[in-house]
Amino acid sequence: MTTNEPNTRNSIRHKHILDLDELNRSDIELIFENTDSMMEVLNRGIRKVPALRGKTIITLFYESSTRTRVSFEQAGKILSADVINVSSDGSSSKKGESLYNTALTLQAMKADAVVIRHQHSGAGYFLAQQMDSTSIINAGDGMHAHPTQSLLDLYTIKKHLGTISSKKVVIVGDLLYSRVARSNLWGLTTMGANIVLCGPKTLLPQDFLDSRLRETNHPFRDIQIEENIDTALEGADVVMTLRLQSERQKAGHLPSLREYSRRFGVTSERLKIAKPNAIIMHPGPMNEGIEIESDVAHGPQSVIESQVTTGVAIRMAVLYDLITGNHSEKES
Ligand code: CP
Repeated sequence: MTTNEPNTRNSIRHKHILDLDELNRSDIELIFENTDSMMEVLNRGIRKVPALRGKTIITLFYESSTRTRVSFEQAGKILSADVINVSSDGSSSKKGESLYNTALTLQAMKADAVVIRHQHSGAGYFLAQQMDSTSIINAGDGMHAHPTQSLLDLYTIKKHLGTISSKKVVIVGDLLYSRVARSNLWGLTTMGANIVLCGPKTLLPQDFLDSRLRETNHPFRDIQIEENIDTALEGADVVMTLRLQSERQKAGHLPSLREYSRRFGVTSERLKIAKPNAIIMHPGPMNEGIEIESDVAHGPQSVIESQVTTGVAIRMAVLYDLITGNHSEKES
């Protein structure tokens, strides 16, 4: 390594990142340490290091994205990788090519990592099973998981509050269809947060939670569910708001958007119920005026833009780890 290189330590030794149930606390802490180094590179006047020179990253997006796709591309380019972006509109999937054949094609092209976003839950897992030498990063699969979003959320909480352990994190909104929330349930419980889920009964992931709450000592056993937002927000350290995933919802979940916003929208008045130094988070994209008031989204307690910056550094750390780490001993 030259002195220009990020000062990273070790590797989590996973071949793929598909969800956060695969990462333990030390894995996440190691990613955080390496993200600190990547953040230092990101804050330099010239944001370029040769760490992944000669490596190829392909982003394969079957669903629209701004933050995730651009931040993976930026992360790869800062590390000097060749980054190739493929979207479903311009790919041979429009001509009927299967995901299996797309996977084999990308591997034959010697891609070191493929970052995939797909409308179907499990698409990243399927791709990972076909790959001998290429790492797969799940950038969002249906309503199932979005692990790098959760990593950046966790890192943001730690940076702003000093720790995640024992912090009260209230996640408000469409919990049923949110892959961000599902990955965060794993990440936040692993890091010792106290989680409260708040939303209309029709948008709570009841089946997902019930099966796990029946198991003795399941990590989700202490998660609280609260339908009254004012009660949920009492003493909150973190308020994480979620967009209504209308592209995934079936009809009949909500009487009206106005009613939803009145009952569950995070307003500056409601924010006063949380701790005075509570932080406001949103994975984006936001529907201001529905799940979050504009004054809150852009107010002094908002860390939403900090989440976006962190997303680049987290993705630099993850790409660097998967592509250069020795994952032969411990694979996912
Ligand atoms: N948070 C997130 O996944 O945003 P994009 O859909 O813009 O990537």
